[in-house]
Amino acid sequence: MNPRREVLAPSQQHEKERAVGEVPIGAGPGKHDQRSGRRTVDPVTDEHDPGELVEEAKLRPRSLDEFVGQGELTEHLDIVLEAARRRGRPVDHLLFAGPPGLGKTSLAGIVAAEMGVGLRITSGPTLVRSGDLASLLTDLQNGDVLFIDEIHRLPHAVEEVLYPAMEDGKLDILVGKGPSARSIRLDLPSFTLVGATTRTGLLTGPLRDRFGFVGRLDLYAPGDLASIVTRSARILGIDIEIGGAVEIAERSRGTPRIANRLLRRVRDFVEVRAQGKITGELAKSGLDLFGVDLLGLDKVDRAILDALCRRFEGHPVGLTTLSQCVGEQPDTVEEAYEPYLLQQGLLRRTPRGRVATPRAFAHLGIALAGAAENPGLGQTDTLHGLGLLFED
Ligand SMILES: Nc1ncnc2c1ncn2[C@@H]1O[C@H](COP(=O)(O)OP(=O)(O)O)[C@@H](O)[C@H]1O
Ligand SMILES: [Mg+2]
Repeated sequence: MNPRREVLAPSQQHEKERAVGEVPIGAGPGKHDQRSGRRTVDPVTDEHDPGELVEEAKLRPRSLDEFVGQGELTEHLDIVLEAARRRGRPVDHLLFAGPPGLGKTSLAGIVAAEMGVGLRITSGPTLVRSGDLASLLTDLQNGDVLFIDEIHRLPHAVEEVLYPAMEDGKLDILVGKGPSARSIRLDLPSFTLVGATTRTGLLTGPLRDRFGFVGRLDLYAPGDLASIVTRSARILGIDIEIGGAVEIAERSRGTPRIANRLLRRVRDFVEVRAQGKITGELAKSGLDLFGVDLLGLDKVDRAILDALCRRFEGHPVGLTTLSQCVGEQPDTVEEAYEPYLLQQGLLRRTPRGRVATPRAFAHLGIALAGAAENPGLGQTDTLHGLGLLFED
């Protein structure tokens, strides 16, 4: 076995992932307390506690059977894996797309585990030069899974190395300099590339076309999230009633990672204030105490709705302007925040921009009248008409 090869133990995998800069929704860089110079920690979103990282790693599903929800995706994936096993061949290259925290990295680990092969983890932004990828590729063992997180952020030169590697299992390298330089082709070990991205639309066409299977992950339904909370509680030895799991599920933004985080905060609350089982009532009190929104909206979600409802008074707003208002990149707003706001019927996309729905006004406790006062746009025009007439 090659001594440089590192197949990460499950607990290390998570740290490695964190090391390459994955920031979960709402985890942000953390605020600084100007006076004391100390970082103020948000009890709900902070994940930098090493104990929490270890717990998080324990919660990762390790097989397709343990992976809750995403029924259609897991059924398709199961067939793809079984077919490859029967042929005794590595699985075709796979791409997983969806908002953060829905299970893309977990699925990469599951693919490797189900195929009984090694897993190598890296990410688009860390592969700076083509040589970085070349050395990873030549270091693989036959059949290995190479997981590239945030694959849409691969530099162009690195992506070019990937094409022949994915298609023909070859690596083109340039030997020598100047007029005597020549290109030689190396055979690579056979491998399965698993890519993860927040949206397939971010990938270049040639890269997207080289994946044999694209799995899209959707936000989870509350029932699936409640099962995930129950499963996590069992693994962590937390006593929880179904009512407690449901309460947590409903405020988890459709996202397992958030559900697990809220479970840990409710556990803290119950340990300190109540003891015993987590009931629906206790979960509710704990989540209220930590300021978790009834719909699970985080600060950025609320800032988006606030801008649409208060600042723009229900008028359509372009993505770029909206993103600037809330201090996030347009990509982030579109991929990480909008899916949940759309799913909850709080926001609409129209050709003229993003519009808050009446439900958003109600949720923020703002009277709809504010939007109707604007000249030329009645309340109905602003809130219903634009959305319904121009919806894409
Ligand atoms: N389908 C699932 N079933 C159970 N737990 C899940 C599922 N999907 C995600 N999780 C939990 O959420 C956490 C985050 O998932 P992860 O795979 O890191 O998401 P992503 O890579 O898409 O951001 C995992 O550690 C796991 O505990
Ligand atoms: Mg991930």
